[in-house]
Amino acid sequence: MQSPFEVLGVEPDADESEIDRAYRRRVIETHPDQGGSAAEFQLVKSAYERIQDGYELPADTDGASHNSSATAAADATATADTAGQTNGAAAAGGATEPGTRRGPRATAEGWRTDTSADPDSDEPQVGTRVSYLDYEAVVDAGWSLTDDDLFTAAADAGFDDDHTYGRFFAEPNETLLEAAEERGFAWPFACRGGACANCAVYVAEGELATPNDHILPDELTERGFRLSCLSTPITETLKVVFNVKHVPELEELLLPADRFDRLHGNS
Ligand code: FES
Repeated sequence: MQSPFEVLGVEPDADESEIDRAYRRRVIETHPDQGGSAAEFQLVKSAYERIQDGYELPADTDGASHNSSATAAADATATADTAGQTNGAAAAGGATEPGTRRGPRATAEGWRTDTSADPDSDEPQVGTRVSYLDYEAVVDAGWSLTDDDLFTAAADAGFDDDHTYGRFFAEPNETLLEAAEERGFAWPFACRGGACANCAVYVAEGELATPNDHILPDELTERGFRLSCLSTPITETLKVVFNVKHVPELEELLLPADRFDRLHGNS
């Protein structure tokens, strides 16, 4: 049986950035819309989650089980077929709990619009002041993503919960999704690797840095859509509409079942 490192095609001593890059490459290669299979895709996701959870090779692992990265990646398809025979229903449904990231996770009690770094503070801060708005509220109010005064209208609307509209401070080098999660928000996601549009946001103001290897077509990135699981805020302020996965052009890139939908009872 392949180790999680072999499934991703990396050496066991690969660092975090190598593992993240390998994961993004493998989830795109194995995505069902890219010629892969649900079982193979699920195997890659599972491998990444196991490494994130601290997987270590057994002490008695010998060289024979250390396939070269290239061979291991090629062999993943065969292993995935086996996984598909035993776990086919779960793989096809994609309804597994998404993997955890390194570092602390916010709890339900921790939901808030700001961290210890108060976005209203006059103290100089390094990072990004993020204003966010839920796409469902945009649709319900009859607004458009491209409205110039979208966030002014949202501020005036007086939403009575901080899940729909608010602000938080993102630390440098956090992806936008990580920053939201660390502040206790359950924004949508599925693969965490650039292979779907579940985590997409619309950038109304500001910018994020995004690696090139992801599934969003240029036409959508040029219109302001970004993948929050990969993208790191790089401007002092940022205004984003999250939960835009139901924008028609993005729906065909979605993967099924994610935590946000389960929490909010959406399909
Ligand atoms: S690209 Fe799939 S969750 Fe971000």
